[in-house]
Amino acid sequence: MVIQYFPGHMAKTIREVTEHASQIDIIYELRDARAPISSKNPIIESMLETKPRVQLWTKADLADRPLTNHLAKEESSVVLVVDLHHDPVDRLLAQATAAVLPTHTVVRALVVGIPNVGKSTLINRLSSKAKVNVENRPGVTRHLQWITINPQLRLLDTPGLLWKKFDDQGAALRLAALGMIPRTHVPTDEIYLFLATYFFHHYPDRFASIYQYEGSDVMELMTAVAKSRGLLRGTSFDEDRVYEIVILDLQRGKLGKVMIDGPL
Ligand code: G4P
Repeated sequence: MVIQYFPGHMAKTIREVTEHASQIDIIYELRDARAPISSKNPIIESMLETKPRVQLWTKADLADRPLTNHLAKEESSVVLVVDLHHDPVDRLLAQATAAVLPTHTVVRALVVGIPNVGKSTLINRLSSKAKVNVENRPGVTRHLQWITINPQLRLLDTPGLLWKKFDDQGAALRLAALGMIPRTHVPTDEIYLFLATYFFHHYPDRFASIYQYEGSDVMELMTAVAKSRGLLRGTSFDEDRVYEIVILDLQRGKLGKVMIDGPL
């Protein structure tokens, strides 16, 4: 099955962002620190190419930091690897923005990223000390909204954006594993198969403590997962529940801190 997920509002958002180009000083591009390559949206990458950019690689608390930091060093724009819930994002972002735009006293930033990457969390963290002012200005549609964080910083908030065609189906599987593509659009058995194979290769000891499984067989692992959760009925179990358990354990960090952008 070819994975595709590009609802109409995403195409509309892309058009609207382009129309607002003249009002944007800088792009705050969010990616997931556990899969910073797969969560790089090629449309966002090519969007407003001439504008300066600060990347925020979110969910750093769930990421395998040495590997994430290594990839961050290879980027040409500034990258902040952050835990949006706990790091001082306002200070870090202000410093990075000042370094990239030293002459601006007022900054208008476009906040973009794939669904679920942390855009709302970022905006809420930044606005925690101020009253968020959502404007209904002419020309600003309900898809995009300007938010005044303080007199020096205004954000153009956008809905999550994916891209039309996943040339790399591996990237689509990785995003689905992290909950960024709805699971209704991706077969859960394929996500499971990817995760099990990936972990056997990159994190061979991770399943031992949580599922008491030390081998490297995807079918045996399923039985071990079912057993660990009391789902075994004789030798049979609900396979869909097992897929869900492994995927949710990944997303909640129960499989440890990860980087899932490595080769299979
Ligand atoms: P979006 O606007 O880009 O769609 O993403 P949003 O901020 O809604 O974040 C999606 C989920 O990711 C939220 O969890 C949010 O708390 C979580 N999240 C965002 N940044 C970080 C981070 O740096 N670290 C961790 N561990 N989680 C992060 P949720 O379970 O969907 O909602 P909630 O339980 O927080 O209400």
